[in-house]
Amino acid sequence: MKIIACYSNKGGVGKTAVAVNLAYALAAAGKRTLLCDLDPQGASSFYFRVKPSKKLIDAAFFKDVEKFTDAIRGSDYDNLDILPANMSFRDFDVFLSRMRDSRSRLKKALKSVKKDYDVILLDCPPSISTLSENVFRCADAVLVPVIPTTLSQRTFEQLIAFFKENKLPMQKLHGFFSMVQSVKTLHTETMDTMHTTHKRRFLKTRVPFASDIERMGIQRAPVIATAPSSAASKAYQALGEEISKRLARSS
Ligand SMILES: Nc1ncnc2c1ncn2[C@@H]1O[C@H](COP(=O)(O)OP(=O)(O)OP(=O)(O)O)[C@@H](O)[C@H]1O
Ligand SMILES: [Mg+2]
Repeated sequence: MKIIACYSNKGGVGKTAVAVNLAYALAAAGKRTLLCDLDPQGASSFYFRVKPSKKLIDAAFFKDVEKFTDAIRGSDYDNLDILPANMSFRDFDVFLSRMRDSRSRLKKALKSVKKDYDVILLDCPPSISTLSENVFRCADAVLVPVIPTTLSQRTFEQLIAFFKENKLPMQKLHGFFSMVQSVKTLHTETMDTMHTTHKRRFLKTRVPFASDIERMGIQRAPVIATAPSSAASKAYQALGEEISKRLARSS
């Protein structure tokens, strides 16, 4: 079983969009997939039309295996289950800080479903926190959407510095360019610079800025399901294949 976290300390960069589409693509390719919505905003639960969990408050998430597994819901798609978000997830950090082994609690919780899935995707909230340290420790790959602009570049570099300071394995980090607008000089220049500086940290696939992706909110379905031949769908599919290959090589 592999764990892929869709993470950035920056908000609104495409974490949920990639989590939802990768989950769909991997499930369609026959992998038993679980998407965990760790963000109290519950965006990926919303896209998959799954109601927020009432019972799975943060305490149960980390302590009560039965409640954790009971909260998992089926989706409209084969091989794809969803662990919906709960508003109490906004208190994860306070809760975790009171626990022993506070940085490896997520790993322990996910162990309970290890045998049931081939891939677990984590849709993470935007922060660097105790929860994110849990994410970095348990994930096999941390997939980071980067909009090719100066501020996103800075955020990615802060993340690299955090990994270094905390002696976390850098090879887990896989950046990819998100919401790319190739007509913008700033975008092409930033991508060139970042590819040169962080060559091995970036995936080749780039996700274009696409209105099909924005429309996911209306359709409440992954873009790969609603517009399979669109450029956005092809990009997410290629991204899924690229990250799967990298993970196969590292195991
Ligand atoms: N490639 C894209 N092209 C156009 N719009 C996009 C693209 N990716 C995401 N969006 C849109 O941008 C908004 C933010 O995307 P998304 O929710 O995936 O980001 P996020 O990083 O999960 O945000 P948050 O930090 O709030 O969780 C959404 O309205 C989404 O539809
Ligand atoms: Mg999100």
